[in-house]
Amino acid sequence: MSAALAGRDAPVTRTEKDNRVRAWVRWAMEQIMADFNRSADTHLIKVLLPAFPDIPLYLKDESTHPSGSLKHRLARSLFLYGLCNGRIGPETTIIESSSGSTAVSEAYFAKLLGLRFIAVVPIGTAPEKLNQIRFFGGTIEETAFYNVYQRAESLADELDGHYMDQFTYAERATDWRGNNNIADSLFSQMAREAHAVPDWVVMSAGTGGTSATLGRYVRYRPELVERTRICVVDPENSVFYDSFTSGNERLEIDASSRIEGIGRPQVEASFLPEVIDRMLKVPDAASIATIHWLESVLGRKCGGSTGTNVYGALTLMAEMRQEGREGSVATLICDGGERYLSSYYDPAWIEAEELELQPYLDELEAVTGTRAQQCTT
Ligand SMILES: Cc1ncc(COP(=O)(O)O)c(C=O)c1O
Repeated sequence: MSAALAGRDAPVTRTEKDNRVRAWVRWAMEQIMADFNRSADTHLIKVLLPAFPDIPLYLKDESTHPSGSLKHRLARSLFLYGLCNGRIGPETTIIESSSGSTAVSEAYFAKLLGLRFIAVVPIGTAPEKLNQIRFFGGTIEETAFYNVYQRAESLADELDGHYMDQFTYAERATDWRGNNNIADSLFSQMAREAHAVPDWVVMSAGTGGTSATLGRYVRYRPELVERTRICVVDPENSVFYDSFTSGNERLEIDASSRIEGIGRPQVEASFLPEVIDRMLKVPDAASIATIHWLESVLGRKCGGSTGTNVYGALTLMAEMRQEGREGSVATLICDGGERYLSSYYDPAWIEAEELELQPYLDELEAVTGTRAQQCTT
């Protein structure tokens, strides 16, 4: 046989391998779709505070996903994106850089598909989250916060694995027009409310992917585009706010956020300022005071980024009341507080971080007419 003809045999071998991979991809897609089919949507909680009779607050409770946070939706989307782009196969090791929540959710889906999963997390990530990653079969590599991307990339090279890279792909992996994304779900659940079109949707940014989905969806829907605005709230030790106000996309700082999941030392690719109407900077003590206050309203604990969201939402509600306007404001419960018992809910941690909650607890009571339950701090 001539060398040229022998060369033509090669595609047959590749096709057999390709067939095996495609059969696995079909199986993997069926697993993810069946998992989706078994899941229920998350609840939209209506909070009517005595001091805001005409401005209800809506909380989309993303803590109730099987992997415990809003990142369940993102992890599903990133796996679908990797599978459909031919980047994940039956032998692929999945690697992610994460402050924990995304890694917990990706570990859940990796387990569903029988894939090895490694999370590269910053030193200091809540031990409760590390335990959940391990619970779903993932392994953990802790590194300095400024090194998580490089370490995840080099691990992917070493192991011939796939680096999910949520900070780059969150905005494009999410099907922002619909397919039960967070915006689609939130706005449809508002449909029968007196103020069905919210004046503001408030969200904090980690990757920026959720605010990108919300902002795009608002522009996509004719009934929302002129009426609903997106406000992104940013904690201390994060560049998003300064980047938004200055227009400088190259800002970097040498510090990490105390509020896990949100606030970044560099402007991430998934953060899309064009679809954001306004940003607010929220002090960390205000975020943490707000989750203690919120416990007396909801009867349960939420994570720190929920405090940032709710503090921002209450700030906008107070502005609306001041202007004599009625309407509604919506935001997210990103995850539950049980993941942070050894930090935001531990008086010793709060003292060690030198966080003064009392002035914010007083402010929250004055603004909302609702007192925080006895705070242990
Ligand atoms: C607990 C928590 N809240 C909020 C966010 C921010 O969401 P996004 O990455 O879509 O900006 C994250 C992201 O990881 C998170 O883990």
